[in-house]
Order: sequence, then C-alpha cells, then structure tokens
Amino acid sequence: MAGRSHLKRTQIVGTGSAVPEKVLTNFDLEKMVDTSDEWIRVRTGIQRRHIADEKTTSATLASEAAQKALKDAGLSAQDVDFILVATVTPDMPFPATGCLVQESLGATKAAAMDLSAGCSGFIYALSLADALIRSGNGENILVIGVETLSKIIDWTDRNTCVLFGDGAGAVVLTPTEEEGRGLIASHARSDGSLGALLMLPGGGSKNPTSLHTVEQRMHFIKMNGHDLFRPAILSMVEAALCVLQKAGLNSEQVDLLIPHQANLRIIDAVAKKLKLPREKVYVNLDEYGNTSAASIPIALDEAKRKGVIRPDNLVLMVAFGAGLTWGAALLRV
Ligand code: UT7
Repeated sequence: MAGRSHLKRTQIVGTGSAVPEKVLTNFDLEKMVDTSDEWIRVRTGIQRRHIADEKTTSATLASEAAQKALKDAGLSAQDVDFILVATVTPDMPFPATGCLVQESLGATKAAAMDLSAGCSGFIYALSLADALIRSGNGENILVIGVETLSKIIDWTDRNTCVLFGDGAGAVVLTPTEEEGRGLIASHARSDGSLGALLMLPGGGSKNPTSLHTVEQRMHFIKMNGHDLFRPAILSMVEAALCVLQKAGLNSEQVDLLIPHQANLRIIDAVAKKLKLPREKVYVNLDEYGNTSAASIPIALDEAKRKGVIRPDNLVLMVAFGAGLTWGAALLRV
C-alpha cells in the first residue's frame, strides 16, 4: 500500500509490549487435553504461552504496551492524534478497544478505532497509519496489536488450545524527512474464499449468540491448521518478495526477518525460501505461542530491547492469518 515518492516518511520512534504474568506450559496442557510436550514442541516450536487472568483484557494489555511505547518515544498521551488497535479479541464488539485505550491513556486529542485482519492486523494497521502520516493526517500515531485469545479458546480442543497465547505490542509512529529511514514499503492482500479455515463463527450477525450457538461451542476459535499450513508459507513469501521488489532491494540485504509467530516449521520454510539464515530470523514463539496481531509488535519490541536490531538495520516483517489475510512491511531502523 505504501509508496515511496513523498517527502514525508513514517518512522517508528517508540516500542512497548505487555504480556500477562501467568504462564501455561506444555506440561500444564498435558493435564488438560490428550497432548504431549513433545508433540507441541516438534510440530509447532511452542513451549509456553502467557494467559490473561479474569481482570486482564485486551484493552488493559494494549494500554500497558502503549504506555511503554510512549515512554520509549519520549511522548505523552496528549501528543497522540490517532490510536489504531489491531485485534480479533476486542473487549466487546463496541465501543472499540481503541476507545478504551484512549480513555485509559488520557489521550484526549486522539481518534481511536479497531481493525480486524487476524494475525496480519499489525501489518495492515501499520500500512494505514503510514498512509495517514504521509498524507499529512497524522503526527503521532499509536499502532497496537493485541490479543487475549485465551478467552476465545476451547480448552477441550487439542487442535487449537495448545497454539495460542495472550499479549500486546505497540509502536509510536511519527513523520520523518530523513532520507532512507523508516517504513520503506508495505504490502497487504486477502482471500475471503478460504476464510472458513480459521474463524469464530458465533456472536455476530450471522449467528447471533443464543443457547444454540453456545451449545455448539460457536463462540470458540475453529481452525483447520493442516489446510492453512501451505497457504501460510506461500503467502508470506509472496508478501516478503513483493515489499523487497517495491523497495528495489533483495533478501540478502535484510538484517532481520520478524515473521508472524504461528509455527516454527512455517517460519523455517519461509526463511528457507527467502534464503535467509536462521540467525537473521527472530523467533520467540517458544515463550508466547501464537499471539495473532500481537506477535510481530511484541517481537519487534523484544528484538530492539535485546539489541538484536541495531541502527540502520533493514527489518522485514511478514504476517499471515484469518481472513485469509497476509502482508509485509519493510523498515529501515
Ligand atoms: O496464525 C495464523 C494461522 N494459523 C496457522 O498458520 C496455523 C497453521 N498450521 C499449523 O501450524 C499446523 O497445521 C498445526 C500445528 C495446527 C498442526 O500440525 P500438523 O503437523 O499440520 O498436524 P495435523 O493437523 O495434520 O495433525 C496430525 C495429527 C492428527 O492425528 P492423526 O489424525 O494423524 O491421528 C491430529 O489429531 O496430530 C494430531 N494432533 C495432536 N496430537 C497431539 C492435533 N493436535 C494435537 C495435539 N497433541 N495438540
């Protein structure tokens, strides 16, 4: 979506993340469903995930991550003019979780809204915020990816309950006129014909919540992981190559790949197709599982804090998820 010919470009000036304290290990899950630590580790790479307690919601996690990102940027909530929250687990259908975050931060000059694009939500939100900034319609934009997937997981379904976790990641975006720095290119696509592979069928206008929808467990995630596996790899590779081509760069010039953290086997396959060695690929799904829209901004914040991302690095972020949606963004730090 992003072009390259404007004077203004979007840069990330602050990052932050927040995950619940409570940890659920593969061994804990062995006691809940017919699974094993070995199956989960070998098939997914996940070892632990963080799970929200009753009081913790997407808005509380998002606010915590946003506060840290603002502090990192040296800005106050009053400086923010737009809050964009990517999530499939809003606190409620409306008001938007973005508005709950706006209130909790005291960001009284900010517009706020949510965006639903599954695990690609953060990349989609980044692209939109970039368009706002480059068109002169935003100065300090908070983009947050947050999920409390534990609240929509069927804890009796071993096909899904071992995969997901909760968390939030936030970035603060501002315009820059510095040549060659910031968001260089982005790309996003969708294919609704495959939407049924990953969905939450109940609770919307198609299947309003009723005794029937609850009895049928339609308020929980339904996923055909096997049929998602190949499209996940192909679409992430396509998106990555597309942003590199838009930027006139090649994968050898990438310093760090931050892929959506769904499955280590998917990540390895994507890296291999892009000819990127393992040391250039950021992986933290062993600790957090799949946190959907939060996975890339959590990883970005963590990589920055650990010094894995250094000044002038070229960072390639790529995601795939429910919708189906997919996308990529290329960033010069
Ligand atoms: O976030 C973006 C969207 N999501 C994804 O991109 C997910 C993509 N898909 C995946 O990551 C993988 O397909 C999964 C991790 C979900 C599943 O791995 P798989 O290697 O594709 O396994 P499978 O679905 O083909 O299942 C293989 C076997 C089945 O048993 P049978 O039929 O061979 O007897 C499953 O019933 O593994 C069984 N199985 C389990 N066994 C132990 C499924 N889940 C479990 C489990 N523990 N938790």
